[in-house]
Amino acid sequence: MNAYQNSKIELKQNFSLSHGYPVVFSRSIFTQGKVFWSSIFDFSKSRKVGVYVDKGVVEAHPIILSQIQDWASSLNSELDLCFIEVVQGGESCKNQIGFPEKIAKQCLDHNLCRHSYILCVGGGALLDAVGFAASITHRGIRFVRVPTTVLAQNDSGVGVKNGVNRFGIKNFLGTFTLPDAVVNDFNFIDLLDDRTYLSGIAEAFKVAIIKDKKFLDWLISNVNNLKDRVPLDVEYMIHQTAKLHLEHIGKGGDPFEYGSSRPLDFGHWSAHKLEALTNHELLHGEAVAIGIALDLNYAAAIGLIATEEAHYIIHAMKQLGLPIVHPIIRDKFNAVWDGLEEFREHIGGELCIAMPQNLGHRTDIYSVDKELMFKLARQL
Ligand SMILES: NC(=O)c1ccc[n+]([C@@H]2O[C@H](COP(=O)([O-])OP(=O)(O)OC[C@H]3O[C@@H](n4cnc5c(N)ncnc54)[C@H](O)[C@@H]3O)[C@@H](O)[C@H]2O)c1
Repeated sequence: MNAYQNSKIELKQNFSLSHGYPVVFSRSIFTQGKVFWSSIFDFSKSRKVGVYVDKGVVEAHPIILSQIQDWASSLNSELDLCFIEVVQGGESCKNQIGFPEKIAKQCLDHNLCRHSYILCVGGGALLDAVGFAASITHRGIRFVRVPTTVLAQNDSGVGVKNGVNRFGIKNFLGTFTLPDAVVNDFNFIDLLDDRTYLSGIAEAFKVAIIKDKKFLDWLISNVNNLKDRVPLDVEYMIHQTAKLHLEHIGKGGDPFEYGSSRPLDFGHWSAHKLEALTNHELLHGEAVAIGIALDLNYAAAIGLIATEEAHYIIHAMKQLGLPIVHPIIRDKFNAVWDGLEEFREHIGGELCIAMPQNLGHRTDIYSVDKELMFKLARQL
């Protein structure tokens, strides 16, 4: 007799965990002492820390390396700095085959265990790539992000996603893994060139358009201050955008995106494809700005928002200095359109595109009219 013949025995696994991590906003973090860092690190099991620093940050601010050394020395009764490694940031680190293995090997060489920390100081691309490596090394080594661009501080660095690009597709390999902490230091923003600085504000427009009309109005009326980098306004823009992203992840009911919807990815289906088609000549935030402009016009064309509203927002983004069109979107529309198919596959079968409905609110649409989108792309 076989007990399992013609029968289905099912055990149910069920547990819940509370997830959370601090997201700190400050300045001059590497001059701060034990009190500041005690909410970031828990050294009860391992004191070891390996640090990765974005080469772009080092070039803009060469003393960062000695500042980190001095900071580690000042905390040497708490932490044991195993290495500081300068890494080429930007999209190239996400495209580099073998990058995650290189990080994992360094952890091995320095005997970092899963209770040790990796601290990564850099833009969204480096945080994504090192974060991915950290999430698979020892099945997850502790990871603290120190985001250094607007986009990383207000969006990518505060969330739960990591990833690298493979087979020409953005974030094809990646994980949903929580960081142990995020430490935003506004001083890093002062180092950015105008183009990288501005590109990150596209994500503020994105989230405001679908989540917060009051913040959208604030962005539009403060375009000139943001362009001139008035510190209080830059800090508010970053803080409020990060808060909206955090609220969505924490309270939106689907932090690990089990559903088909990518609610925060308004404007992203074409953006990801534009980045790849331009060989990453377009920065992520710039591609998002173009994707937002295209989808705002589409939302207006199908009656979700008023045409004047779409034009008003696009005008503000343009005034800020964000690109709202790229020749590829007209000249290679079919290739851009493939981005929709990749997006559908990435989110798991069903096409589901976030759109604004009445500004400050989001809706999902489940099909897109190619002819209409092409017409709007030409008009852009
Ligand atoms: N994980 C997520 O949820 C998520 C969300 C949105 C975007 N992203 C990803 O984020 C990436 C874009 O990030 P980004 O906009 O921060 O750009 P980036 O990381 O590509 O950095 C742009 C350039 O700025 C340099 N840099 C970084 N900080 C600097 C500083 N303070 N001073 C001078 N130079 C500096 C970098 O070396 C790089 O050359 C994309 O790969 C995108 O896919 C991830």
